[in-house]
Amino acid sequence: MTRFTNKKALVIGGSRGIGAAVVRRLAEEGASVTFTYAGSKDAAEALATETGATAVRSDAADRDAVIATVREAGPLDVLVVSAGVLVIGDALELDPDAIDRMIDVNVRAPYFASVEAARTMPEGGRIVVIGSTNGDRMPFAGGAAYALTKSAMQGMARGLARDLGPRGITVNVVQPGPVDTDMNPANGPMADGMHSFMAIARHGQPDEVASLVAWLASAEAGFVTAGLYAIDGGFAA
Ligand SMILES: NC(=O)c1ccc[n+]([C@@H]2O[C@H](COP(=O)([O-])OP(=O)(O)OC[C@H]3O[C@@H](n4cnc5c(N)ncnc54)[C@H](OP(=O)(O)O)[C@@H]3O)[C@@H](O)[C@H]2O)c1
Repeated sequence: MTRFTNKKALVIGGSRGIGAAVVRRLAEEGASVTFTYAGSKDAAEALATETGATAVRSDAADRDAVIATVREAGPLDVLVVSAGVLVIGDALELDPDAIDRMIDVNVRAPYFASVEAARTMPEGGRIVVIGSTNGDRMPFAGGAAYALTKSAMQGMARGLARDLGPRGITVNVVQPGPVDTDMNPANGPMADGMHSFMAIARHGQPDEVASLVAWLASAEAGFVTAGLYAIDGGFAA
């Protein structure tokens, strides 16, 4: 399949998990892919060797670094923002600096990356942000700040879709439920509790999310914008 031949893509947060699956998928389908990482140098280098993509160390918590990375990788046909961190626990006890950093990575990076990409993105460009089912539903205690960051993606997509629609650029949010990654392993202590909220009671695989991202990033999805795409086994139902 070559849906992305001659397309230039950047995946922010591509060294592991969902982002790495997106890097693989876009590269397999012909895109010229750059991806960023922060801490996982070995995983990033291995993925670059495997896929032919270019790995760039760039901390998504650093606004200037995000903007510079997007500028250097552009002009982009496809921007996918998957970098994310999860800080959960008692809101009265959590370290405020950790919450600020989560907001930097989960909210400010997607916003500034999307705006910077839009400066030079051609007609038909695609912006896809990985939100979360927790943007719609937070069925347990301790997730207020994380949910805040993922609900923020919804407003951002709606607004940017209006800004960029006249140029034929789409902006969508993919909202996974539990997906088997380092962030949320299928054999983790919270797995059974999460499955109890779901119609399909299992973790998803990163590849399943990458399929949806690739469709949203493809030419076929040109009339799809400001969408919130649940891929969550019915978690939010
Ligand atoms: N897994 C789930 O159940 C689930 C469910 C809903 C939504 N999500 C969302 O999906 C996205 C991907 O999650 P995941 O499960 O794939 O997580 P993961 O396995 O923990 O991987 C996180 C990725 O984000 C990158 N990243 C984190 N902080 C970064 C930073 N400051 N700068 C650059 N890259 C950074 C990591 O790179 P380094 O290791 O190189 O730092 C890694 O590639 C996140 O936005 C997450 O909130 C996940």
